[in-house]
Amino acid sequence: MGKHAQTYLVGAVSALGGFLFGYDTGVMSSIQEINQWKGYFHNPGPVGVGVIVSLLTAGCFVGALCAGWLADRFSRRLTIMFASLVVSLGAAIQSGSQNRAMLIVGRFITGLGVGCLSMTVPIFQSEISPAQIRGRLVSLQQWAITWGLLVAFWIDYGCSFIQGQAAWRLPLGIQIVPALILFVAMFFMPYSPRWLVDNDRVDEAHKVLARLRANGDFDNLEVVEELEEIKEAVRIERETAVRSYLELFRFPIRRRVILGVVVQGLQQLTGINAILYFSPTIFKQSGLSENGASLLAQGINGVVNMLATIPAILWVDRWGRRKTLMYGSLGCGTTYLIKAVATAATQHKTYDSEGTLNLNLSKGSSYVSVVMMYLFVISFAMSWGPVAWLYPSEIFPMHVRSKANSITTASNWLFNFVIGLVSPILIKKITWGLDLIFAVIMFVTILIIYVFFPETKNRNLEDMDIIFTGSIWAHKDRRRIEEFDNTNRYAYDIGEAMGQPHAYGIDGGNDMYSGGMYGGKNEYSADKYMFGNSQTTRLSYIDSQRQHRQTQVYMTSYDDY
Ligand code: BGC
Repeated sequence: MGKHAQTYLVGAVSALGGFLFGYDTGVMSSIQEINQWKGYFHNPGPVGVGVIVSLLTAGCFVGALCAGWLADRFSRRLTIMFASLVVSLGAAIQSGSQNRAMLIVGRFITGLGVGCLSMTVPIFQSEISPAQIRGRLVSLQQWAITWGLLVAFWIDYGCSFIQGQAAWRLPLGIQIVPALILFVAMFFMPYSPRWLVDNDRVDEAHKVLARLRANGDFDNLEVVEELEEIKEAVRIERETAVRSYLELFRFPIRRRVILGVVVQGLQQLTGINAILYFSPTIFKQSGLSENGASLLAQGINGVVNMLATIPAILWVDRWGRRKTLMYGSLGCGTTYLIKAVATAATQHKTYDSEGTLNLNLSKGSSYVSVVMMYLFVISFAMSWGPVAWLYPSEIFPMHVRSKANSITTASNWLFNFVIGLVSPILIKKITWGLDLIFAVIMFVTILIIYVFFPETKNRNLEDMDIIFTGSIWAHKDRRRIEEFDNTNRYAYDIGEAMGQPHAYGIDGGNDMYSGGMYGGKNEYSADKYMFGNSQTTRLSYIDSQRQHRQTQVYMTSYDDY
């Protein structure tokens, strides 16, 4: 922790954006139940409530799409600041609403800000992190989301005892406080060093890296190395890249866009929000029929969600992304399956006079259902919650990172919207059938992750091209990546032996791997070519004027590495 204290601080401050995300997505779920609110807005029916709740999601979708351009043009840092002001404006309108239209407009505006934050915060965190703690840092935003949900729930609960309209105005308005704290705190936070280099502000980037990595020591080896790597990556990208949205749909970026969209979409298809938003209904169906009991059970759900995110923060960089997601899916799928079986075996549907469905489960089954629901939330919080945000934030090269993330994030919001729309209907209509659908989806995702998603832990953002330019079959491509790592390590050793361990850059294509030492006076590189089963390693030395190139060629076998 000590060494990276500054990075953690910056990551934690920006994570307040996640808090606003969680707070605003959670705040309406109990407000819509209280009489003061219902009375003031003339008892909106299910469609009315649906529109009020989902307009936030619609705003988030649009906000995420716009944020791609903003974060490139004005920086990640200023975009976060701007978005926090938008959230404040939206919250003020919501809180001061005089009629339904005003509330809806307020929700949409807040959504624009939240959507913008949900895309910008993870890439900002990802870009300020060293590779070893990137998973942890981005998971902080997920942790903040769970805190936001939790706090919103309990504030709603506390305020529901207020007699007047403040019962709903207060919870809606109070989020202005964290939004403004985020705005002010970001004044003291640095720009993303990667964004700075991309905008030809290398000296400032150097300063930021020195501050984040080495207490302001400009000459620190790690700082110099990282800066060189970023510069090199940006240089190469400039030579080859077209900076347009069209590039997202072409090789070599298209594959990553698909993976990002899929991982974000699948996160919503875990059904987490069906469980979180509709848990009072589900608890009631499961036999916790008293209002107080189901409310409490929902509150506990929020606490469980927050607590279970902690292991991911601590260990996702060790577990890796693939394993975390696959085990998460296994946990989520199994809990759904058990819940479905327990419900199917004993349910006996009846409807009360208001048309509320009761499943009349046996005591044993209803306990099983409730426990499974908690275990599901734990499985989600340790895996899909954080990793779905982390993965897209780290797989793209600099010049398309924010554009691509605006698309992947928008996909999360789109699926969120769809699930919000259909799950209340399905919960009523097919009860355990919905659990079964989610179970099947979760088991299929294990295969999807295994086959298509390469591991990204411990990689610098600048190395991702190597990971994603091989075969699309991730499970088969591991050998190639291992080879690359070996060559790289080898090149690094050579550089060190030659007394040039300053900076170290890498480059890679489909059938050629190279590792090199750049940034010092001279440049060393080791390239490895593969011809059938035999391999050739070429060690090159180029002096700073690029006048001399000495190359030695070795034929080696794999075992030499
Ligand atoms: C998801 C949200 C969800 C939350 C629950 C986030 O990662 O994107 O839709 O409500 O996790 O903790």
